[in-house]
Amino acid sequence: MTKDANDPQSGEAQSKFIRTFEGDVSAVPPMWFMRQAGRYLPEYRKLRAQAGSFLDLCYNPELASEVTLQPVRRFDLDAAILFADILLIPQALGQDLRFVEGEGPRLSPTVSEKDLDLFRKRDVHETLSPVYETVAKTKAALGNDKALIGFAGAPWTVATYMLAGGPMKDPAVLRRQFYENHDFIMGLIDVLCEKTVEYLIAQIDAGADAVQLFDTWASGLPAPVLDAVSVRPLDHIAGQIKKARPGVPVILFPKGVGEKLSEYGLLRNCDGVGIDYAMDPSWARTHLPGRVVVQGGLDPLLVVAGGAPMERAAETYLKLFHDVPYIFNLGHGFIPETPPENVAALVKFVRSYHG
Ligand code: CP3
Repeated sequence: MTKDANDPQSGEAQSKFIRTFEGDVSAVPPMWFMRQAGRYLPEYRKLRAQAGSFLDLCYNPELASEVTLQPVRRFDLDAAILFADILLIPQALGQDLRFVEGEGPRLSPTVSEKDLDLFRKRDVHETLSPVYETVAKTKAALGNDKALIGFAGAPWTVATYMLAGGPMKDPAVLRRQFYENHDFIMGLIDVLCEKTVEYLIAQIDAGADAVQLFDTWASGLPAPVLDAVSVRPLDHIAGQIKKARPGVPVILFPKGVGEKLSEYGLLRNCDGVGIDYAMDPSWARTHLPGRVVVQGGLDPLLVVAGGAPMERAAETYLKLFHDVPYIFNLGHGFIPETPPENVAALVKFVRSYHG
């Protein structure tokens, strides 16, 4: 079954989130938050303790769906984001993945040239089918007026973890690999593109209304490198999704790319771009093409601080984007120390704000 969000025949009421991609501007923008499910919520910590490890939770459709819905229920948000992780793809390709408490992810063995053929042949759905079940369960529970966002890591960001065996400690090592072993790095990016397209299409077919690609480590790359490992691969993925499932919005979040963000905004198949907390929102307002929906921007640490500074900053985004389609969100994910009361206060502030 394919979905066409622009199909007037479908007769379904669209969520406010999806209507924004059709050009809708409302007095209160739709709102969701990156990392809206997670350790800052007591109900997440409780369920996570029952599930066992973080990965057990990701592969348990019942519990993962419940965790996906928790923040939507608590704060009445306009969209849910699938509870999963960008590192499930390397795991589905055959790398061993573990999350070490307090240290973060570990992938082993690190990838080398000889792995690429094996990766190409892998059927990622064998490992990832519980994720599609989570999507289906969650969409059934959300109904039509709230959107479900599927996601994947961008090839470059996922590759950095695969090559370093965890969070990269020294970006210079990978940049050097890109120059010295160019065919291998581009081969890895290509396989990741192919598998990511398959993964996202399966999420859409299971019920995801839109998809987002996280390129957390796109920052600090020279222009030609950024173009090769981030801009072009994301363009390719978005294009393939558009061809296979027209009408499903694709949002790109290349973090820390500064003014290079306009190159992503210009991509024909990109429907939305996430702006990070370091990006000047007035620059984004002026330089991103009007066709593209801007999402986010607010520094997640302001939600840890709360109060007037948080509200003043939120107002900046609401004012700047009041007359264009805009999605209220953060400029990166919530950190575990975020007080849920501050999130509730932020939601209330955005909903009651009248320019
Ligand atoms: O946003 C959401 O609420 C949806 C779920 C989601 C998670 N990770 C859950 C998660 C999403 C979209 C991600 C994306 C992700 N994962 C990114 C890109 C966005 C970003 O944050 O930069 C990256 C780089 C990862 C890789 C990853 N996952 C790391 C480095 C870590 C360890 C650091 C940490 O915060 O513990 C994770 C773990 C992770 N992913 C948790 C959650 C809720 C914490 C797991 C737990 O201990 O319960």
